[in-house]
Amino acid sequence: MSGKAERVQTIFSTIAPRYDLVNDVMTFGQARAWRNKLVRLSGARAGMSVLDVATGTGDLAIVFKKAIGSSGKVVGVDFCAGMLDFAPAKAQSKNLEVTFKLGDAMALEFADSSFDVVSIAYGIRNVTDAAKAIREMARVIKPGGKFMVLETGRSIWPVYGQAVDFYCAKVMPVMGGFLSGSKDAYKYLDSSSKDFPYGAKFVEMLKKEGGFGSVIAYPLFGGVSYIYECTKPQQLS
Ligand SMILES: C[S@@+](CC[C@H](N)C(=O)[O-])C[C@H]1O[C@@H](n2cnc3c(N)ncnc32)[C@H](O)[C@@H]1O
Repeated sequence: MSGKAERVQTIFSTIAPRYDLVNDVMTFGQARAWRNKLVRLSGARAGMSVLDVATGTGDLAIVFKKAIGSSGKVVGVDFCAGMLDFAPAKAQSKNLEVTFKLGDAMALEFADSSFDVVSIAYGIRNVTDAAKAIREMARVIKPGGKFMVLETGRSIWPVYGQAVDFYCAKVMPVMGGFLSGSKDAYKYLDSSSKDFPYGAKFVEMLKKEGGFGSVIAYPLFGGVSYIYECTKPQQLS
């Protein structure tokens, strides 16, 4: 395992017990609304099969399961056991059947064309080789299926954008550190966001690596986060 992967695993194992709380506080509850929006945009419906990669404590997988009902199948995978440990009880408390498994975004155990929808929320920038993970996730999507990504960006609104940058660089590590006990983890989360492509650049990467025919980027709150809706082309007959 690479140095980055080990560091990411250690960070998420450390903050796992307070991850949901910190997420809600630091995004002012917006992360929940954005996950709901991602599921709506994916077109997931009854009977479909969904894979949520880097599922963490399982929130997006749970929203998908609510959307597709008992006839559909949702699997959540993450390479950090500490995060995944919290997911099954959350699904069970809502009477939802979701399968959670250990797994690496860069080497998925599933056959080609297995899922109608594959998603990854705030995960792709943490993966050691994002291009490899995009190729791997695209592999397991059915022709005509969707790849949905939720990831951080940078706001294009001038004063607001500067305020968000200040909040992420200065306030988040202190507040996240106080709530989770790990200031370093929230420093890492800020620096990893700064280094990762977003908007048009990430659309280009998704098309190149995933071979998606169409990629639509939806900026959220002026671009502090983005949802990317990617469609895998139908096979040529
Ligand atoms: C910020 S959390 C996001 C969790 C969840 N998707 C959410 O929206 O709350 C990032 C997650 O990515 C996972 N992760 C990072 N690299 C991974 C990889 N190569 N394979 C699987 N999971 C990975 C981490 O373990 C962590 O749980």
